[in-house]
Amino acid sequence: MVKITYVEADGAAHTAEVKPGCSLMQGAVWNSVPGIVAECGGNCACGTCRVYVEEAWRVPTGQASDMEEATMEIRDDDHPGKRLSCQIRVTEALDGLVVRMPPSQF
Ligand code: FES
Repeated sequence: MVKITYVEADGAAHTAEVKPGCSLMQGAVWNSVPGIVAECGGNCACGTCRVYVEEAWRVPTGQASDMEEATMEIRDDDHPGKRLSCQIRVTEALDGLVVRMPPSQF
């Protein structure tokens, strides 16, 4: 299992054990972490599963695809390191990852 910490906008942190192969979004939802809405269920269509990835983790979490970038434009959010958590695949390389969440997904 991979340890991921999700931090709400108010600083509340939730550490979850996530199975490799799942998405970061599934890791949050399946562990009842608040702050990830994921309206479209992980289809890269709603932009309500946004997280902010700190600079040190941007290489292991990978680059957003063109489709992900387009979906993120739905939401008025220019925070650095923003990603859709449904598009980040959890691997052992992400053990210890900390991501932050916006005050609202809408
Ligand atoms: Fe809808 Fe990620 S769950 S874009």
